[in-house]
Amino acid sequence: MEAGVSLGFKSLENEVRVDSLPVEGDVPGWLTGSLIRTGPSKFEVGDQSMNHWFDGLAMLHRFSFNGGGVSYASRFLESNAYRAATAKGEITYAEFATDPCRSLFKRAVSMFQPNLSDNNNVNLVKLGERFVAMTETPLPIEFDPETLESAGVAWDVPGLLTTAHPHLDSHSGGMLNYAVKFGRRNEYRFFSLGPASGDDVNVISSPVTKQPAYMHSFGLTENWIVLAEYPFVVNPLALLFSGRPFIENFKWKPELGTRFTLIDRKTGEETGPFVTDPCFAFHHVNAFESDDGQVVADICTFDDAEVVQSLYLDNLRSGSSIPAPALTRFTITPGAGTVDSERLIEEPLELPRINYGRSNTRPYRFAWGLGTDGTSYFDRIVAADLETRTSKVWKAPGCWPGEPVFASRPGGTDEADGVLLSVVLDTSAETSFLLVLDAKTLEEKARATVPHHIPFGFPRPVRQVARAGSSVAPAGHEAIGLSLLIGVGERAVLSKGRGRIVLDFRKAVIE
Ligand SMILES: [Fe+2]
Repeated sequence: MEAGVSLGFKSLENEVRVDSLPVEGDVPGWLTGSLIRTGPSKFEVGDQSMNHWFDGLAMLHRFSFNGGGVSYASRFLESNAYRAATAKGEITYAEFATDPCRSLFKRAVSMFQPNLSDNNNVNLVKLGERFVAMTETPLPIEFDPETLESAGVAWDVPGLLTTAHPHLDSHSGGMLNYAVKFGRRNEYRFFSLGPASGDDVNVISSPVTKQPAYMHSFGLTENWIVLAEYPFVVNPLALLFSGRPFIENFKWKPELGTRFTLIDRKTGEETGPFVTDPCFAFHHVNAFESDDGQVVADICTFDDAEVVQSLYLDNLRSGSSIPAPALTRFTITPGAGTVDSERLIEEPLELPRINYGRSNTRPYRFAWGLGTDGTSYFDRIVAADLETRTSKVWKAPGCWPGEPVFASRPGGTDEADGVLLSVVLDTSAETSFLLVLDAKTLEEKARATVPHHIPFGFPRPVRQVARAGSSVAPAGHEAIGLSLLIGVGERAVLSKGRGRIVLDFRKAVIE
């Protein structure tokens, strides 16, 4: 791996605002609104260091588009975790793989009185008129992008561990997500939530599990929720008594295989599990049903959970490679109880994106993401054509792109009619730039250069670009802790655990 890539894991502490970034090429005039991204930015507090990429204190980055011009602003997310770290000069809240709570007594207390980090290096979604930021602790936080005032916790999450990748329900305008409830009976609690501010969480299904699996996302078809349990599982008692950071309590047990369970979206009834070979994944790409009742789930898979280990900061900064992810199609035939799998393209692909508004739950043709040859970090943008099973690649010397976000062209009728937006680290210049690519050809359209480096962000944020007069942000991922938000809106909330953060974009980001 090129030594310079470690710059992507170096703390960025300055908060800046630039009214007009230098632009090479032409940013499409139809591209308006903003792209907001959040990601880990501060990896050291006092003399302490975070262990894992997912632990870094979050910073928001906003790119706004107007008439071909691009402005930029950045600001730390003022979470309780950030404020406590700044005030005390030490890491105060337990993160994904960094836990300052060493005493057994304190850990036991924290299980019953969770004081989870609200370091929302999260995903941002727009639910109804609300903007909500999320991560894997249950603290959805709504914020007002106009005033930056906190609007409080957006909703009560029925569990302690959730996913930052809910799905939007195109019929109701609400969302679907799940949370793990730990206890004598461990449950995956799938719940729906309407788009209105006062809507209650409605638990629609609660599959029971003895050993909850680490799952970062799930799939959705017209009729089914697709649950994929990888054999990276935890004994909940270990979370309480092991004294180890959260993720280090999960164990790889390949003998369990990968278990697919289908949950009827209307009745909550479970079908399955349907077991296939063991694998690990963070991100579902898309899912849909075939005419003959099969359920197809496309997932970025790894052979095992070693990728979690590879993302520790020491490994990343030393130039170690990350495992190559495979875009894998699982076809479940419920009547036969079988699961078939095939690799869709040879090029590795992770941090996937689709034209969500058009393609989610439906048969689709195009997916975009990041790629690697397995000898380095992600160094290329990949456009996958799932019809021809071919792919195109964008890469440039010394450049390390972030997750490509698809923005559709207004009036566009083709699934790939639009552009990709990616924040790219240029290690030779030691700066980052916003890259605009044609989504179909990967032809480069423009670069808008930021005056400093931006640390790498996570997988799968919310994707889409708000157009003038509208707010966007379909459900998405993001990832493992990092997020991208796109859109122009009025209120938004960030959440994690029982903490919450409310932001005012105008003051915090736009100003
Ligand atoms: Fe993600």
